[in-house]
Amino acid sequence: MERPRAVITGVGAYYPDYILTNEELSRMVDTTDEWIMTRIGIKERRILRDADKGSAYLGARAVEDLFRKTGLKPEEVDLLICCTVTADMHFPANGNVISDMVGIKNAFSFDLNAGCSGFLYGLITATQYVESGRYKKVIVVGAEKMSAITDYTDRATCPIFGDAAAAVLLEPTTEDLGVIDHILRSDGMGRVHLHMKAGGSLKPPTIDTVLAREHYIYQEGQPVFKHAVSNMADVSVEVMERNNLSSEDVAWLVPHQANLRIIKATGERMGLPKEKVMVNIQKYGNTTSATIPLCLYEWEDQLKKGDNLILAAFGAGFTWGAIYLKWGYTKVKS
Ligand code: UT7
Repeated sequence: MERPRAVITGVGAYYPDYILTNEELSRMVDTTDEWIMTRIGIKERRILRDADKGSAYLGARAVEDLFRKTGLKPEEVDLLICCTVTADMHFPANGNVISDMVGIKNAFSFDLNAGCSGFLYGLITATQYVESGRYKKVIVVGAEKMSAITDYTDRATCPIFGDAAAAVLLEPTTEDLGVIDHILRSDGMGRVHLHMKAGGSLKPPTIDTVLAREHYIYQEGQPVFKHAVSNMADVSVEVMERNNLSSEDVAWLVPHQANLRIIKATGERMGLPKEKVMVNIQKYGNTTSATIPLCLYEWEDQLKKGDNLILAAFGAGFTWGAIYLKWGYTKVKS
């Protein structure tokens, strides 16, 4: 029997109500709306302010939204993969916590940490399970409470990040739809430029590490920017070329939302007009593993069955990649 392909059959999302604007940020650190808009392209981001809630809460709400929209029941789920760099705890996995929160009982679940490329890695991992023929309902959820690891005294990083979660359902199909090709890469040399210094086994938390503010994101912006621009565009173009896709053939670029300038550079290298590039960074900032499914969620009404999509990301690790997929459905207008 022919191996099935894995196709996205639904999208759900959740973002917290609180909006942190550039105006409010400019009262916290020495920055301006003009600098943030020009250099990054972010106007506002969502923040989960409840001290008793972490990223699993956001992920669970996104999965509940997916259940509501698709009619999927928790007991039908075979596997849940949570992509995150901000799990509630070092262990157990957020996937286990989310599954418990939403009533998934007959499945296994795990976490996947690939920085801002987490969703791409998660989608391709999930695809292997679906293509094997053994797993029929697989959820991939990107869930991040980036505000928990953002230093709101550091103007170089605090404007960038936001909190959100978004989830997709993957199912098998024998139609000419779904995930067709991908290029995923990592290079651990990049860790010097983007990491969290303390809290792991290399440097467990102490009073000194807390006082040195080492439990926050450390980023050297310029080298990360340079690598992001070249690597994200290279793999996106490569995946287009080896599938004989011209810029006319591509309906949408769904890029990770880290910096508007990186997004524009990638779209330009692919020869795409800006109308074909999903951009919502101005509203949510960089929500790490959640950016790409959050774009799919916001553009769901405009996506048509058979549309060629290129998903692309770059992030901590370094990790990067591009996926070529054919969208699985046209949403019925309600
Ligand atoms: O998603 C994971 C992967 N991450 C990324 O893709 C991020 C990639 N990097 C970037 O997006 C950009 O490098 C940043 C947005 C982080 C920074 O933008 P930049 O254009 O590279 O700025 P810079 O770090 O070179 O800083 C330029 C100037 C500096 O001042 P001097 O030294 O020129 O006087 C900074 O101190 O801007 C200053 N600066 C700020 N000024 C106002 C840095 N942050 C701010 C700020 N407000 N928030």
